[in-house]
Amino acid sequence: MNKKGNGGIMGVILEGNRLVLGTCYYPEHWPKRLWKEDLERMLAAGIEVVRIAEFAWSKVEPREGNYTYAFFDEFLDLAEETGMKVIFCTPTATPPAWLTEKYPEVLNADINGVLYRHGARRHYNYNSPVYQKFSGQIVEAFASHYASRPCIIGWQIDNEVNCEKNVFYSESDNKAFRVFLQDKYESLEALNEAWGTAFWNQTYTEWEEIHVPRKTYNDSTNPHEVLDYTRFVSDSARRFVKMQSNIIRKYIKPGDFVTTNGIFGNLDNHQMTEESLDFMMYDSYPNFAYCLNDYCDAPGEIKDRKWSRNLAEVRAVSPVFGIMEQQSGANGWNTRMEAPTPRPGQITLWTMQSIAHGADYVSYFRWRTCTMGTEIYWHGILDYSGRENRRIAEVRQIHEKLQGMKELAGSAYEAKVGIVRDYDNIWDAQLDVWHERVEKASQQALFKALQISHTPFDYVYLNDGTNAKDWAKYQVLFYPHATIITREREDVLRAYVKAGGTLVLGCRSGYKNRSGRCVMENLPGLLADLSGTDIPEYSFIAPDAGEVTIQWGDAKLTANVFADLLEPIGEGKQEAVYTSDYYAGSGALISNKVGKGKVYYYGTAFNEGSARIFLEKLDIITPYRDVVHVPESCEIAVRRKGEDRYLFVLNYDRNPVQIELRQRGIDLYTGKEVSGQRKLEGYGTMVVKLSKCQ
Ligand code: GAL
Repeated sequence: MNKKGNGGIMGVILEGNRLVLGTCYYPEHWPKRLWKEDLERMLAAGIEVVRIAEFAWSKVEPREGNYTYAFFDEFLDLAEETGMKVIFCTPTATPPAWLTEKYPEVLNADINGVLYRHGARRHYNYNSPVYQKFSGQIVEAFASHYASRPCIIGWQIDNEVNCEKNVFYSESDNKAFRVFLQDKYESLEALNEAWGTAFWNQTYTEWEEIHVPRKTYNDSTNPHEVLDYTRFVSDSARRFVKMQSNIIRKYIKPGDFVTTNGIFGNLDNHQMTEESLDFMMYDSYPNFAYCLNDYCDAPGEIKDRKWSRNLAEVRAVSPVFGIMEQQSGANGWNTRMEAPTPRPGQITLWTMQSIAHGADYVSYFRWRTCTMGTEIYWHGILDYSGRENRRIAEVRQIHEKLQGMKELAGSAYEAKVGIVRDYDNIWDAQLDVWHERVEKASQQALFKALQISHTPFDYVYLNDGTNAKDWAKYQVLFYPHATIITREREDVLRAYVKAGGTLVLGCRSGYKNRSGRCVMENLPGLLADLSGTDIPEYSFIAPDAGEVTIQWGDAKLTANVFADLLEPIGEGKQEAVYTSDYYAGSGALISNKVGKGKVYYYGTAFNEGSARIFLEKLDIITPYRDVVHVPESCEIAVRRKGEDRYLFVLNYDRNPVQIELRQRGIDLYTGKEVSGQRKLEGYGTMVVKLSKCQ
């Protein structure tokens, strides 16, 4: 297996130590006479890798059991002749028509059991034994025939696992769900207890009575069942990916990698990566921020910068990763009019955004815009004709810039602040609107406050087996609403704090067990002792309550969505109180010293203002203020390798801005020393290697 983040993923693969550009290419969409010219043009533009074949099952198995390899052999010959490297994909995202017609049981269904028919993609279900058999066979065929080709450097499994549809209701899913539950609970008594089926007379007496969630008259289903169902979907997707990865690994050349392009919901991406992949790739479309349907250009909106949030999520899975699809043109299908063509500079900006967050490989979607099918408006680098254009000229310039940035391949994003996440709570917030409201509010507020104040952060996952020692680099961790908590997870949090960390918890913490059932202990349940907090009363804030204020020393905060009224217990200390409505005088923030560190329990959800006050009071805001001063419209990021630090400044504003480099460094685009006041063009970017002595 390739080691994640070891000297740059693609650098190692391409026997160099550098950042690499690629593109997505579809040989099956173009006359063969164009292939060579296309590959040569790509190479001339600095594109060294193509990803191919993810929807091309029928090119290799045009009829059941009838395999023919000539089409891609011919393409791979050309790749080898021209010196192009290839990421080869398994084609299971689009089953062939002969398969779905003869074996409709491979199809996914909606909640009413109506099958999704041929014509789109990802219409299969992971649990159909027939689909598993055919998928295994095609993956075996692809891998056994093509994997030894010298031009191939790695494999992508399927395409965007769990994208578009991440719920499954076919008959195979029903059966597999029962097996999943039997493995988990062993007896119906245990299942009935975990799911609280005494409520509304849902008690099960035979396994066959259990189904994947079905249509009910008011769309309410047992929430504990839905939580397990979500785990089941994740498990099903992971098993499907693992089945493919096991086959590919029998055939791949040493050093070649296995990946997939994520990341999507109802899927434990950490576990999937751990058990099946070498690292994660991501498909980055920041232009969605300019979608016609959702266009928002209000002052203070962070639009395409929101993709930094997604990139931080990918980094939480693989610290150094790749971008399999990076936006390079306008977005649209024949059924969707999405976002306009990137303005001059934006392809560079979004490429550098990806690299700033840890991508060592950036592959543009797609080389030439498709002339047929649903995606005729999802533009690539080139338009239909392939004529020279502004976008390919920009890609060439990006390649030039990367020449001076080679040394930062493999370096790691630097952050002292983390936001703790875990799959149980992410999934619980999907099915529980009380949880969802506080979670959404706090996640948005924390992200925005961190972004705007130029405070880099990581998402930090609390999974089974997480070791608090891995968190030592974080000065402060926010874990806004750990609704579900377990004894083991409390232990990890406690160990982090004892060793000197600061942990900030928000309202609604600790009131559910792992089945999603509410606990009968005093709240916040398993977190009461750690946080030195008791919650005698709580409520969501009534619409007529107006602004519910909180006084924390000299700072005034406003509560958001919910109010836990707090009292200190043990060594807990009241830091802030509510100052309005009937909440006035009740505790709003408790601190508790534990070992060398401290826990804060904040009785409400964050808004941008309160998040910022926490960053200030905990003295973690704007950590690079001695290095650089930039306006709010810019993002900054630092990647670090040993003693070397690389500063990225990204201007998301279409107007020029003034920045001040307060330390000297080398501008990696020009190789020249820089310091002091600098002008950054609209959508301009800058990458500076900081001088070591400072
Ligand atoms: C991605 C997908 C590509 C293409 C693109 C544009 O999500 O992986 O295959 O469909 O979107 O729609």
